[in-house]
This record gives sequence, C-alpha cells and structure tokens, in this order.
Amino acid sequence: MVVKSRTTAIAPCSTANLGPGYDVFGLALDALEDRVRITRGPPGGGIKIKNSDATIPVVPESNSASLAVKKMAVDFDIGDSLEVQVTKGVPAGYGVGSSAASAAAAAVAFNALYNLKLDKDRLVEYAAEGEIASAGTKHYDNVSASLLGGFVIVSSITATGGSERRFIRIEPPKDLVLAVAVPISIEVPKKKTEVARSILPKEVPLKSVVHNIAGASTIVAGFAIKDVEIIAKGIDDVIVEPARKHLIPGYGDVRQNALAAGALAVTISGAGPSMIAFMKGNKNAKKVASGMAEGFDQAGVKSSRTFVCRPSSGARVI
Ligand code: HSE
Repeated sequence: MVVKSRTTAIAPCSTANLGPGYDVFGLALDALEDRVRITRGPPGGGIKIKNSDATIPVVPESNSASLAVKKMAVDFDIGDSLEVQVTKGVPAGYGVGSSAASAAAAAVAFNALYNLKLDKDRLVEYAAEGEIASAGTKHYDNVSASLLGGFVIVSSITATGGSERRFIRIEPPKDLVLAVAVPISIEVPKKKTEVARSILPKEVPLKSVVHNIAGASTIVAGFAIKDVEIIAKGIDDVIVEPARKHLIPGYGDVRQNALAAGALAVTISGAGPSMIAFMKGNKNAKKVASGMAEGFDQAGVKSSRTFVCRPSSGARVI
C-alpha cells in the first residue's frame, strides 16, 4: 500500500444550540469553511502548526486542529513528524464553529492520510478533543455538525446505565435558508465560550425545562418532516438565551429587525455573539440579513459581516 505524504480536507462553519438545544443541536452552514492540510515527514519531528490567521494559536496544544491530530497520532502509534497547515475561512470566537471546523477538517484529513478507515462517530470524538483547546471542555454540537453536515443531534444514551454517545444526522429541508450576522468589530475574550458558559444558571425552574423540551422536540420534528415553519416554532429558549443576551450589544435590535423583515425565528448562534435567523426560502433573506446588520449598527457595533446561507454537507477530503 502506498501511504500518501500529504492530505487536505475542508469543513464548514456551523451553528449550535438552535435555541433550546443547548449542547445538543448543531447545523452545518455553507457560508464559510476551514481548510487543513497535513504533511507527514520522517519520524521524530513532532507536530508543527502553521496558520493563515495570526490570531489563532500556533502552540500545538492550544490549537484545535493540531490537538485532534496529536490525539490521533498517539492512539494509532504514529511517530512521523507532522505539519498541520490551517487556512482559516471561519472567524474565530464568534459562535460559528471556527475551532470546530478546523478540528473536523484535521480529523478527516488525518484519517485519510493514514488510511485509518475510522467511522464518522469516532472522527467526531477526535474532533471534539480539539475543542478542548478553545472551549476548555469537549462540546460535540459544532464538531458533529461540521463533520457530518446537515442537522445533528448529540445524543447521550444513558437508559441502559452506560453513557454511549451517538450523533444522529437528519437531512435538513431544502427550503431552509439562514441569515447569519457576525459582529466582527466586537472584541471577544480569548476563552469566550468558557466565559459564556460560566454565567449560565446552575438551577432552572421546571416550567422552563418543560418549555425548552417542547421547543427542542418541535425542532427535531420539523427537521424530520422537513417543515421549516415547524422548526422555527421550536426556536425559543427561555434558559440559556436570557442569561447570555446581555453579552451581545444590539441583541434586541438584531432580533426585532430580522423578525420585522420576515424571519420566522432568530436566536444566538452557539455561544454568540453572532445571531442567526431562520427562513423558508430566500425571498426575504437579503432584507433579513441587512436588518440584522442595521440592528448591530444601531447599537454601535459597526461593520458586522452578514451571510445568507443554507445547510451544508460535512467535512471532506479535497
Ligand atoms: N453549545 C455551546 C454553548 C457552544 O452554547 O456554550 C458550542 O459548542
């Protein structure tokens, strides 16, 4: 067998939570992508990381792509020197799955480079290792969406006493259109996701839990029957979003403008500060996106980047 010396993979950005699905729901988006090229060399050189974006860490242990690669190299007893070249398309720290895209592309590239033939669930586990670099702990919502594509439910099956994790993918409806507003002029803290998690309530009233379960179930049903209006009806989070909205200048205006322009639902994308709106078809999409940008603008957050996009397929070797 000829072992290749270099492989490149790409992975899309993603949104997590979709309102009530905190840490459980992810949706891959075709707006932006990261590219990871892994080159193998003679044994003994360790892992080197090169990055197109100067703000992304180049210490292998602090970078989501190289952390995933490192874990895979250890587990499969691969001692080659490895160069991990990351070309960033997804802005880091804004809640659109930037570190997850790099980690997902890295896991897929490494799997192909060494012909490991790992199944997708195992690749998600390795990509999630990479998330430790940026979020402090493993989160599976963005990485699973970025790796598998489509809408993904991170399911922890504990009914039998164990804790088996499964990633359940549902193909989104063809007429689902999203508008994402990324407030790139907001300075985000280095460990933004950790900060955004630290302010969440430790205890939650039962009626809020019931509300969110109803919403999350409605979203899953909407994806299953491919009905965008049903999906949108479920996007209403009374637990996490109320605690986080104060972290996002312009939250209220962005939301109101998007709904006024014809969005069916609006929520925080992942841990924020980006916001995402859901639409059926792209009739109102441009108006919704510019309304969201104006909303940030009204709050003094200039030059946000907006994208009109659709769900994406997952990470792949190119
Ligand atoms: N679900 C995570 C959070 C973000 O909202 O903190 C993405 O992993």
